[in-house]
Amino acid sequence: MVKADGILLGSPTYFSMMSPEMKALIDRAGFVVRAQPDTFKFKVGAAVVAVRRAGGMPTFNAINNFFLINQMIIPGSSYWNIGVGRNKGDVEADEEGMKTMEDLGRNIAWLIKKIKK
Ligand SMILES: Cc1cc2nc3c(=O)[nH]c(=O)nc-3n(C[C@H](O)[C@H](O)[C@H](O)COP(=O)(O)O)c2cc1C
Repeated sequence: MVKADGILLGSPTYFSMMSPEMKALIDRAGFVVRAQPDTFKFKVGAAVVAVRRAGGMPTFNAINNFFLINQMIIPGSSYWNIGVGRNKGDVEADEEGMKTMEDLGRNIAWLIKKIKK
C-alpha cells in the first residue's frame, strides 16, 4: 500500500457493512499511518463492494472514509461501485455493475496518469 500509486479495496457486504477482514486491514493500516500522516496523500483510492441485495452503500461509504481521512483522491464511475451477486461469478449477470467496474478501471488509470505527470 505504501508503494502503490492507487489502492483498490474490495469487500462483500456483511450485515450492511464491510467484512471483518477488510475492517481489520483498514484499522491496522489507518493506525500505522497515524505516525506518518502523509503516507497515502495523493494516492488514488477506490472501493468495490459485493452485495446480494441491500447494505452496499454503507459499506462503500465506510471504505471511502478511510481514503478521505488519509488525503487520498477518489475517482467516480458511471454508478457507485457495487456489484450484485450472492455467489462467486453471479456478478457477471449484473450488466450495470460490470460496466460500472469497467468505467471505474478506466477512470482510475486516467487519474493516476494525470497525477504522475
Ligand atoms: C455473514 C453474511 C452477511 C451478509 N449480509 C448481507 C447484507 O447485509 N446484505 C446483502 O445484500 N447481502 C449480504 N450477504 C450476502 C453477501 O454480501 C454476498 O453473498 C457476497 O457476494 C458474499 O461475498 P463473499 O463470498 O466474498 O463472502 C451476507 C453474507 C454473509 C455471509
